Amino acid sequence: MRSPSLPRGAAFVSALFLAAAAALFGRAEARGDATALPPLPGPAPRPHSAPADPAKANEACASCHAEIAAEWQSSLHKQAWTDPVFQQAYAIESVAFCRGCHAPEADPEHEPGAGAKAVGVGCTSCHVEGAHIVGAKALSTNAPHPVFADARLATAQACAACHQFNFPGKKLPMQNTVAEHARSSLSGTSCQSCHMPLSPSQSGKKPHRNHAFAVISNPAMIRRAAKVSAARVGGRAIEVSVSASGAGHAFPTGDMFRRLEVRAEVIDAKGKVVQKADPVFFGRVFADLPRDAKGSLAFHRTQTADTRLPPPGAGGPRVARLQFPRSIARAKVRWKVLYERMETAMAASFGVDPAVDEIVVGEGVLLPLGEEAKQGDEG
Ligand code: HEC
Ligand code: HEC
Ligand code: HEC
Ligand code: HEC
Ligand code: HEC
Repeated sequence: MRSPSLPRGAAFVSALFLAAAAALFGRAEARGDATALPPLPGPAPRPHSAPADPAKANEACASCHAEIAAEWQSSLHKQAWTDPVFQQAYAIESVAFCRGCHAPEADPEHEPGAGAKAVGVGCTSCHVEGAHIVGAKALSTNAPHPVFADARLATAQACAACHQFNFPGKKLPMQNTVAEHARSSLSGTSCQSCHMPLSPSQSGKKPHRNHAFAVISNPAMIRRAAKVSAARVGGRAIEVSVSASGAGHAFPTGDMFRRLEVRAEVIDAKGKVVQKADPVFFGRVFADLPRDAKGSLAFHRTQTADTRLPPPGAGGPRVARLQFPRSIARAKVRWKVLYERMETAMAASFGVDPAVDEIVVGEGVLLPLGEEAKQGDEG
């Protein structure tokens, strides 16, 4: 591994926190110098040092950028280390590889300190490079610190080092979001336009890019990803069609253990369930290869199938056929498409249950044949 430490960045950020930064700001060199672009955000070890006290360094930014900081507080970036779902997986695979992205403010060779754990992916992870505070633009003339304008921060390059990566030592993507985006018909729409929408300021400032990056906590966003519809096929089955709409990549994207589940059941006049179809899943399927001497799972895993909804413009729709044991011609059929985030004790070593979250992407009811069909399309 590279040496994680260049003391200049640490000195810079702690000086900032001590509000004794004026002298340093005055010294910030190479503003806008395109020949010396700072490194992009990404996993540790970084070319710049991790701040000596990541919590204080981030509090310094937060103290002036209060609205952005409040949004970030609610985000999974802030919880990248403390997230219980991550903690479950990390308990099985406690390796430097994971620490690099889930605690990027610490040296990944060691267990992170309390500050780096609390900060997760912080302001400094994305905005401080060497002696610079980096922004997509340097619009503000009233900033008390210089902002190094790096237009790449408004593109997928700002996300790629953490959101596009392979299993260690393999060509197989563990997460493939940036590549999925690149081959979608929405590749011209940046990650930021969907995930950092311009938000009004509550304190009379100009609108800013939202830093909540909310997906799991934002069911409306998940519903936007797909359109769903259903129809009867023969006397004992229905087909539920899921087609891409508002996501700029596959659905679900990101972590290995997200999937869609399509369910259907027959209900009688009193609403009682009288028949159930076997559910159909759309997701990535993995298998473990024999472990190495170190017993590290991630290093010996392979993908055996990917039935997720392809990115917009790159294929699909996905059609789930749900088969019932008996005739459903005269019955009322209720169906549902769910997004699920799986609990990972390595998703119960691929038995994959239970789901931590079940978010309804779309649902509907097919009335008995002869009665008017009512279909949900709430994607
Ligand atoms: C003393 C207060 C103060 C501190 C500390 C501070 N900022 Fe700022 N910063 C400002 C002000 C004021 C602006 C002007 C724009 C605004 O009001 O948001 C600004 C502008 C910015 C911009 C550019 C916005 C644009 O114009 O595109 C970025 C990025 C930024 N700050 C990040 C940070 C980060 C990261 C930290 C911590 C390392 C930090 N700031 C610390 C007050 C501060
Ligand atoms: C995961 C990376 C990431 C984290 C974490 C992050 N930012 Fe940002 N921030 C960005 C990106 C990317 C942009 C530019 C978006 C664009 O213009 O397309 C940005 C924009 C900004 C701006 C300019 C906003 C505007 O529209 O006026 C400020 C100020 C800022 N960030 C401050 C902060 C502060 C303070 C924190 C911590 C509380 C923080 N950021 C955390 C990635 C991040
Ligand atoms: C330093 C690494 C890093 C960078 C840079 C980064 N991310 Fe993340 N991001 C993470 C990690 C780690 C998580 C997952 C945290 C967890 O849940 O454990 C995450 C989670 C997310 C989520 C899921 C949030 C949710 O509620 O489900 C979104 C969306 C996201 N990032 C978007 C972005 C975008 C867009 C960018 C670029 C502007 C970006 N990230 C840059 C590391 C990063
Ligand atoms: C056209 C809008 C759009 C664009 C562009 C877009 N996304 Fe998304 N993203 C979504 C929607 C909608 C969801 C919720 C559905 C899902 O999980 O796929 C989402 C979900 C996510 C998630 C959460 C996955 C999960 O289930 O935990 C991550 C991470 C993410 N996006 C990262 C990115 C990155 C990185 C880029 C750029 C390379 C990007 N997105 C581009 C709309 C978009
Ligand atoms: C290159 C960066 C990177 C590395 C290395 C990495 N992760 Fe992640 N991890 C992410 C990002 C980005 C997300 C968010 C994707 C999403 O929301 O779907 C994430 C999400 C997760 C999640 C899902 C969290 C949730 O809330 O559902 C788990 C669990 C996880 N990672 C475990 C690990 C483990 C264990 C390792 C080491 C074997 C590891 N990660 C290595 C970037 C990384």
